[in-house]
Amino acid sequence: MSDQASDDVMQGVTVVDHPLVQHKLSIMRNQETSTGSFRRLLREISLLLCYEVTRDLELTTKSIHTPMEAMDAPVLKGKKLVFASILRAGNGLLEGMLDLVPSARVAHVGLYRDPVTLEAVEYYYKAPTDLSDRLVIAVDPMLATANSATAAIEKLQESGAKNIRFLCLLAAPEGIASFRERLPDVPIYTAAIDSHLNEKGYILPGLGDAGDRMYGTK
Ligand code: PRP
Ligand code: URA
Repeated sequence: MSDQASDDVMQGVTVVDHPLVQHKLSIMRNQETSTGSFRRLLREISLLLCYEVTRDLELTTKSIHTPMEAMDAPVLKGKKLVFASILRAGNGLLEGMLDLVPSARVAHVGLYRDPVTLEAVEYYYKAPTDLSDRLVIAVDPMLATANSATAAIEKLQESGAKNIRFLCLLAAPEGIASFRERLPDVPIYTAAIDSHLNEKGYILPGLGDAGDRMYGTK
């Protein structure tokens, strides 16, 4: 890929390179890390990622009285956020994000990746009815081929979502390129961009299968 083409693909991609995120991610990658620690670390990282993905939210002011005097205090503008968890592994990010934004509405998109075709297969969908005037943040730890993330986001768009961001932990360059081509207007936030995908569509060096590592299913 030329430098210009690579710059174009990286438009709209934010890498959250905070040292705490990077440190925790390295522990998660280690195959010696237990299921319990993996889940706890994902929850902790999701707080930090949530902070970044919401950094530019619009504010308005509200008149309040402190114990000392009246003031116009900054508060979030607009309707409550929607977090859309791409099951199963998305729930690992969702939990921490809800710790930070407890009033958020939640959508669940159940998808699994067919191990042969690597296409996303939908098995569940439930979302708030009024997506069109809310910011929707879709979450899944892994962006590999991007088939799952793009299928989930296209489904949210069919349901009316217009303002969408995608948050993950690890992304493959191939997944970013495919995502950018299919959803050029959806910003991506990730903690790291890894080297490449292997022949089975797994991210290298990666962290393995995020769902299995979270839930101890392998
Ligand atoms: C994993 C991961 C993503 C998807 C990424 O889910 O959580 O959803 O793979 O791969 P892709 O970018 O190539 O689509 P998986 O299908 O293993 O389901 P799970 O979360 O239920 O384990
Ligand atoms: N899904 C995962 O959980 N891990 C990968 O490396 C690729 C897809």
